[in-house]
Amino acid sequence: RPYLGGVKVLVDGGMGIVPDIYIQPEHQRLCKSKVCPDTQDIPVIDLRELSNSGNRPKAIAAIGQACQKWGFFQVTNHGVPVATTEKMKEVAYEFFELPVEEKMVYHATSMSSKMTMYGTSFNPYEDKTFDWRDYLRHSCNPLSEENVSSWPANPPSYETAVNYSEAVGSLCKSLLRALSESLGLSPEFLDAAFGTPNERFLLLNYYPPCPDPALALGLSSHSDVGGITILLQDATSGLQVLNEGQWIPVKPLPGAFVVNVGDQLQVLSNGKYKSVEHRVVLNSECPRLSIALFYNPSFNTVVSPVEELLDESHPPLYKEFTFSDYKKRFYAKLDGKACIRSVQTTVE
Ligand code: SIN
Ligand code: FE2
Repeated sequence: RPYLGGVKVLVDGGMGIVPDIYIQPEHQRLCKSKVCPDTQDIPVIDLRELSNSGNRPKAIAAIGQACQKWGFFQVTNHGVPVATTEKMKEVAYEFFELPVEEKMVYHATSMSSKMTMYGTSFNPYEDKTFDWRDYLRHSCNPLSEENVSSWPANPPSYETAVNYSEAVGSLCKSLLRALSESLGLSPEFLDAAFGTPNERFLLLNYYPPCPDPALALGLSSHSDVGGITILLQDATSGLQVLNEGQWIPVKPLPGAFVVNVGDQLQVLSNGKYKSVEHRVVLNSECPRLSIALFYNPSFNTVVSPVEELLDESHPPLYKEFTFSDYKKRFYAKLDGKACIRSVQTTVE
């Protein structure tokens, strides 16, 4: 079996080839898929416009458009201080730089562990092909003493993740207000539909350089299981989004966050907003770091298409389910859009 301590330790130890378990089936490899040239197609939305009453409707319409066509957009002037994002990236790097024994203290054998968890690939106890990625995952709601004390003790400045989670949490709330309005709902609608306390967690991803990026993936294609995802990426590209059969790179934009629609928002919006498949590709030169905050319904929330969006010509496209049941399926396996297909009312 591959080494559970992660990919970084293999690469640091001088691994010059891609071990078999990391070699993707041919159709999933970078060299076999249609990748768009380096364009900047994913919309970039200046969130300053949301606080200008004259421009707010236009910004909200742009967000709605992006969610329909791409399921992804980037945001600038989002109100999270540069010092906060820079400090968060710094401590994330420092965590992955720790000796493997220190990281393995947080190793968990079950994906549904609610504890702070260090892992590699996606679910190394189930994955047939391994992803070239190491990660740290932990809850960031509530930001209670009990929760925060379960986060990594090293680096000591890791507690900066409290500030980061608070600032990005407020950004999520303001985005959910805009998303509600873009669907013609009252501003607080979506956040209320998520229930309390909603689930939030941070996922720190570290993708070491790969000796042959054509063979492996940093993260296999999937759509996000939750409500919305706010992603901070460093200057190294790698994230690609599937659009009309082509993979579109999401170019790192200094200071911006990438925002994407998760499966729960696709269901609530009755399919109007798309939870889109994405993946991470590798390079042989330098590592890549990304930090995702997932803003999700609460565990017991019953999710179903919002009634206000249904009528005779818009019947519900999804069955109702609890968020906790939905997540169980997701954690079994990263498998494109298999989860959301399983709750559709009709077969595509
Ligand atoms: C993710 O899909 O959770 C991570 C994406 C990334 O690393 O850019
Ligand atoms: Fe994702």
